[in-house]
Amino acid sequence: MKITFYGQSSLGIEVAGKNIIVDPFISGNELAKNINIDELKADYILVTHAHQDHVLDVETIAKRTGVTIVSNAEIADYYAEKGFKSHPMNHGGSWKFDFGNVKYVSAIHSSAFPDGTYGGNPGGFVIESEHKNIYIAGDTALTFDMKLIPLRTKLDLAILPIGNNFTMDVEDAIIASDFVECDKVLGYHYDTFDYIKINHEDAKKKFFDKGKDLMLLEIGESLEL
Ligand code: NI
Ligand code: MN
Repeated sequence: MKITFYGQSSLGIEVAGKNIIVDPFISGNELAKNINIDELKADYILVTHAHQDHVLDVETIAKRTGVTIVSNAEIADYYAEKGFKSHPMNHGGSWKFDFGNVKYVSAIHSSAFPDGTYGGNPGGFVIESEHKNIYIAGDTALTFDMKLIPLRTKLDLAILPIGNNFTMDVEDAIIASDFVECDKVLGYHYDTFDYIKINHEDAKKKFFDKGKDLMLLEIGESLEL
C-alpha cells in the first residue's frame, strides 16, 4: 500500500492495483500548487465530510476519471443527483470493494457543502487491504469511539488531524493513537490556513517522547506500508 500526501487532508492511496483519492482539496491549496489534479489517477474518491477543504476537487477529478465516490449517504446522494457514480455508506457499515474492505466510522465534527446542502454526519474510514490496515480519521475531535476500532482491526497506520482549532491538536492525537492502539501516525490537516499552522519539530518530539512515531510528509511525498 502506497500513500501519498497532497496537502491538507488529501491523500492518494495505491492498493491492490487501484488508485484511491481521499478528500481532494488541491487546486485551492497554495501549498499544493505543484500537484496537478489532471494527472492524478483515480478509481475511487473517498470523502469524509462535505466541507470545502475536503471536496473542492471531487467533481473535477470525477468528471475526468468516472470514479465511484464513496461517502456517507447524504454526500453520495448529492453527487449521484449531479450524475456522478457514488456508493453510499453510513456509520458502522462496511463494504468489500475490489481493492479491500472499507468501514465508515464516527467523527466528531460538522458537515455541510459549500452551497449549504446538508452533508450528513462526518466520518472517517478504516481500510483493510493487502494485509495492511489503516485508519483515516477525517476531521474530528478526540472521541472514545476511536476505542472501538482496535476491537475489530489491528491498525498498521493511523492518519490523524493534528492542526488544532477545527480538529484535535497534537496532544489529543497522541491520546487518539492510544485509543486506536497504533503508534505509527501520519499527521494531516495542518499548516494550510493560519488557524492550523503547527511547529513540525515540536509535534514530532511530543510523539517521540511518548514512544510514538509521527510522520509529516512533504506535499507530493509518499510512504509505503
Ligand atoms: Ni471539516
Ligand atoms: Mn477540514
